[in-house]
Amino acid sequence: MATDPLLSLRGVSKDFGGGVFGLKDIDLDIASGEFVSLLGPSGCGKTTTLRVIAGFETPTSGQVLLNGREIGHLPANRRPVNTVFQDYAVFPHMNVAENVGFGLSVRGTARAEIARKVAEALDLVGLGDKAERPVSALSGGQRQRVALARAIVCEPQVLLLDEPLSALDASLREQMQIELKSLQHRLGTTFILVTHDQTEALSISDRIVVMNGGRIEQIATPDELYDRPATRFVAGFIGTMNLLPGRVTGDGRVEGSGFALPVEGAGSLATGTAVTLGLRPEDLTFAPAGSGAPLRVETTVFHGHSLRVIGRLNDGAEVVLDVRRSHAAELPADGATAALALRPGASAILLPA
Ligand SMILES: Nc1ncnc2c1ncn2[C@@H]1O[C@H](COP(=O)(O)OP(=O)(O)OP(=O)(O)O)[C@@H](O)[C@H]1O
Ligand SMILES: [Mg+2]
Repeated sequence: MATDPLLSLRGVSKDFGGGVFGLKDIDLDIASGEFVSLLGPSGCGKTTTLRVIAGFETPTSGQVLLNGREIGHLPANRRPVNTVFQDYAVFPHMNVAENVGFGLSVRGTARAEIARKVAEALDLVGLGDKAERPVSALSGGQRQRVALARAIVCEPQVLLLDEPLSALDASLREQMQIELKSLQHRLGTTFILVTHDQTEALSISDRIVVMNGGRIEQIATPDELYDRPATRFVAGFIGTMNLLPGRVTGDGRVEGSGFALPVEGAGSLATGTAVTLGLRPEDLTFAPAGSGAPLRVETTVFHGHSLRVIGRLNDGAEVVLDVRRSHAAELPADGATAALALRPGASAILLPA
């Protein structure tokens, strides 16, 4: 990170007792203005991380720092942090403007100031003309925007979002993702978003923190995560990845399942080291007979812009590859055996065995 971090977690662990560890030794630095996503399967500790940052949960050990200062002693309402929860709980008996202004009125902000800030926040989320509407007369997406406006109106330094879009249908969700990204850009506020949806994380984050079992597996930009997953877990969690067992050969290649491929990083490992080869479906192609690994094609599935071919290598390992529809005529028939190869220019990923 080029600049000093705005927010840091240092060795944060949370033991819920009875052997249940919510978090294990989390180290995380987030820069001012960054859009960071916490991504991982259910129960991996995403919400617990947000709650520790917000001050709703006290870590068993470790520190939370804001601008280099420990904030562990600050109660939730004294931290410059706001949270948008999954169920976007709006107050049903208040109209839109009252909902958004609630936090400011609790703080004793002057009425004229509240009115000005609420109008500004509603404009930002595209609800400028709905201020007097009862929230009961809003759609799910509009209520979610009320919840966002209510959080940003207090001008937090960090906005925490816990699966804020999960209750929305797919198309509205995609639209809100774009809006969220552009809102963050305009505000310049640091956003930390919790999601278990990798597509959502990949499309809107500056960096993604992949979590598993209370630990961080990898912190990286979306393209780094996709191109260079650091662990087997990340490789299997982000996108589709063929994971094949192999061994390092003397010339810096990896051999296994009928393959012998040059792989970056293999040269520095001892000959015979057991590794896993990661191959993206779009990086594989069919080669002339006799070159490449023999693949028995089992099924071909229509995927819209591409066709997904599923087959088995000699050792029984399943492999999927994606082929553009324009190449459909050249595909081997189901049941046929063809030579599988890496597409020119593509590379395989070296992972621990
Ligand atoms: N208050 C609590 N008491 C005991 N265990 C808890 C408590 N809160 C969370 N846990 C446990 O800590 C772990 C992490 O929970 P957390 O809610 O952070 O997961 P998550 O990644 O947000 O999952 P999800 O995607 O399902 O929301 C889980 O095993 C959970 O059961
Ligand atoms: Mg959660």
